[in-house]
Amino acid sequence: MKKIAVFTSGGDSPGMNACIRAVVRAAIYNQVEVLGIRRGYAGMILGDFVPLDREGVQGIINRGGTILGSARSAEFMTPEGRQKAFEQLQAAGVDGVVVIGGDGSFKGATVFMEEHPEIPFVGIPGTIDNDLYGTDYTLGYDTAINTALEAIDKIRDTAEAYNRLFFVEVMGRDAGFIALRSGIAGGAEAILVPEVETDIPLLIQQIGEYHEKHKHSCIIVVAEGDDAGGAFELAKQVQDKVPYEESRVTVLGHIQRGGTPTCADRVLAAQMGIGAVEALLANKRGIMIGVQHKQVVEVPFEQSTKHNIEISPSLKKVAHILSAI
Ligand code: F6P
Repeated sequence: MKKIAVFTSGGDSPGMNACIRAVVRAAIYNQVEVLGIRRGYAGMILGDFVPLDREGVQGIINRGGTILGSARSAEFMTPEGRQKAFEQLQAAGVDGVVVIGGDGSFKGATVFMEEHPEIPFVGIPGTIDNDLYGTDYTLGYDTAINTALEAIDKIRDTAEAYNRLFFVEVMGRDAGFIALRSGIAGGAEAILVPEVETDIPLLIQQIGEYHEKHKHSCIIVVAEGDDAGGAFELAKQVQDKVPYEESRVTVLGHIQRGGTPTCADRVLAAQMGIGAVEALLANKRGIMIGVQHKQVVEVPFEQSTKHNIEISPSLKKVAHILSAI
């Protein structure tokens, strides 16, 4: 293997730059050249490639976002689009590819390799949602939960001052990991996740009882993908039926996707970046590099997809015992 390409795809996440840096430096360490692909699969189709050397990835370890940009490409979902991408990679002399992204990015790589087995892909789980099976953490998740936690702490200050009820929406289209961890750490009174059906009448009753007993601020953390329909929808269904004089809604949104990656995310980026390069050099393909119990592991793409994951029963228990309602 003489030349590899690396790109970021789907929802960006903090730590992607640290990971690009790790891939580039691990490749150079192994005398392999690296091309960066700009704007995900869309850039692959256009041949938007940039050579990356040691200096090219200097000073990016602490930067959020991704220097390569990201995209979700409809054209890559067609055989014609993938054919164009294949021709661009071949013309550039690429022998293997590292894709940093989520579930959809790995599915794209899997279909590509079925049609064009000449070019192997190895994946690195890059998403704030933590919704891939086979890794304890995805890249960017730790930063995102700390961003969410900081926001919840600040909301608590103002919620306490006015004795208000707050509905705080965090990201997580299909998974409640961000809600569960940031909610536990922020002392949320209730945490609503897509994995557990939300019983609105019960929630209304519990908020009422909680108010009666404690006369205290109340924070409900809700994942955007919860069946209640997000924080605004939930507030509509609940706020007039509970004894709180006032309630407010805060949607944290894309602030959870940005910012300086935490130490944990940078170390994860380093482990996974090196793992991916080593896997390509060992002629592996179609696998995601994960980390389980601090050890780097390889998980086939078809197993890594999110329908395999379950929310941690142990954290669910913690949330149940420690949430007030
Ligand atoms: O997959 C990561 C994620 O941040 C989800 O939590 C969220 O639902 C989605 O991306 C938002 O995507 P977009 O940036 O395209 O609005």
